Amino acid sequence: MKIVYESKTGHTKKYAEMLAEKLKIDCIALQDYKQEQEDIIFLGWVFADQIKGYSKIKHRANVICTIAVGINPYSKENDEKLIQTNLVNTPFFYLPGGIDYTKLKGISKILLKLVIDQRIKENKPEDKEVIPIMKMGGSLVKEENLIPIMEYLTKK
Ligand SMILES: Cc1cc2nc3c(=O)[nH]c(=O)nc-3n(C[C@H](O)[C@H](O)[C@H](O)COP(=O)(O)O)c2cc1C
Repeated sequence: MKIVYESKTGHTKKYAEMLAEKLKIDCIALQDYKQEQEDIIFLGWVFADQIKGYSKIKHRANVICTIAVGINPYSKENDEKLIQTNLVNTPFFYLPGGIDYTKLKGISKILLKLVIDQRIKENKPEDKEVIPIMKMGGSLVKEENLIPIMEYLTKK
């Protein structure tokens, strides 16, 4: 079994590497992954509700668990939206990532700014923790966020 990930600015990669170390298995970026039909754990960053890379990998490998990394705060509704939009047919987990403005350019930066402006306007209480990160950049990546995933994988 391997961990395969798609990450734009490094937060998803960091989780993939942490998980690989805990599980003592290899991890590899989707762009470098050549093998087919083996068991994998997939992690992808969220872009406009799409789990990047998931549609490519799900036909090529036996995904035993899908992990989405985004900036939205955790909610059951957000999980359900991601599962439905991406037609996820495996156990699913969501992890909070982060924003790194030094690694974002062009259209991604512009799109993110539009999303953030909208969120600031909406002023939802659940966004309180993420708004400063959205504005200034920052990370919510923490090893302890992997606890439920480790529990699930070690019970399997
Ligand atoms: C253009 C753009 C769109 C995004 N859309 C979403 C989104 O729909 N939902 C979400 O939770 N996070 C969204 N994010 C936040 C990213 O998923 C978050 O920054 C993630 O941690 C990036 O992972 P990475 O560092 O591995 O690339 C978006 C980020 C960008 C740049």
